[in-house]
This record gives sequence, structure tokens and C-alpha cells, in this order.
Amino acid sequence: MKILLVEGPLLDKIGEREPQIYGKNGTREKLLCAFYEKAKSLGVETETVSEYCEGELAKILANAKCDGIVINPGAYTHTSVLLRDALLCSKIPFVEVHLSNIFAREEFRRKSYLSDAAVGVVTGLGSATYSAALEGLVNKISTDKETDLG
Ligand code: DQA
Repeated sequence: MKILLVEGPLLDKIGEREPQIYGKNGTREKLLCAFYEKAKSLGVETETVSEYCEGELAKILANAKCDGIVINPGAYTHTSVLLRDALLCSKIPFVEVHLSNIFAREEFRRKSYLSDAAVGVVTGLGSATYSAALEGLVNKISTDKETDLG
């Protein structure tokens, strides 16, 4: 099984940007380490893409070749019909993730263009967010495969 981790803009700045919200120096390393460790323990292959440009992200998503996607769209979560369309075009199951709890912040962050099309949403678990999403997604894909066979 192959899972694509997709990060939108400013997620490479975790540890530097608004540390009171996203975590201090070292959080990004912890976040990615936990994700890759979880992938190893689940025996799944991963690829990671970090991209600022909305159009490029859409191209990557629409042409993705993998079994599942874990995506932190950053600010595009709250604005992008394009990313929603690209994910639907891919027909690949995805989990939307956020390090912060988007429901406990500004009103405008409560709206996501992706959530209702996602298999699930993981929001607010800090450095455990990506690994928790990966575990849930892999579990869901495996269960759905078994059901298809049965
Ligand atoms: C974020 C939440 C978004 O609202 C914000 O624009 C981000 C990061 C998170 O991981 O908590 O860039 O996706």
C-alpha cells in the first residue's frame, strides 16, 4: 500500500511560525518522524510532497498514483474549491489533517472545502496528527478492501 502525504503552504515553517499554536522548534521533525515510524510499523510505503502553489497542488492531487492521501492543505482548506475538485478527480480516499484544532480558532477556519469529501478529519493533535491520520486511513482502506472481497 502506498500513502501520499501532501502539505500545503507554510507547513515547512512549523516550529518557527506561531509556536503557541503550531508548536515550538522541533515540532516539525517530531511530526514527520512519527509519521514515517508509523508507516514503517504498518508496512506502508510513503511519499511526501510539500508545495505552496495551489495550481501545482491540484496537479499533484489529480494525477496521484497511490492508495490513500493524508493532506494538510494549510490555509487552502478554507478557500479552495480547486483542491476539493482535484481530490474528487483523483477518486483516492483522503484524510484532512490540521495540527491545530481549527474549530477552536477564528470563525473563518471552521469552514473547510474538503471535510465532507474526506474519509475523516484529524485536527488539533499537534505532532501526533499525521501519524494518527495515517493509522486511521490505512485501517479504513484495508477494511474496505476486505469488505469488497467479501
Ligand atoms: C493548519 C490550520 C490552517 O487554518 C492554517 O491556515 C494552516 C495550518 C493546521 O495544520 O493547523 O496553515 O492547517
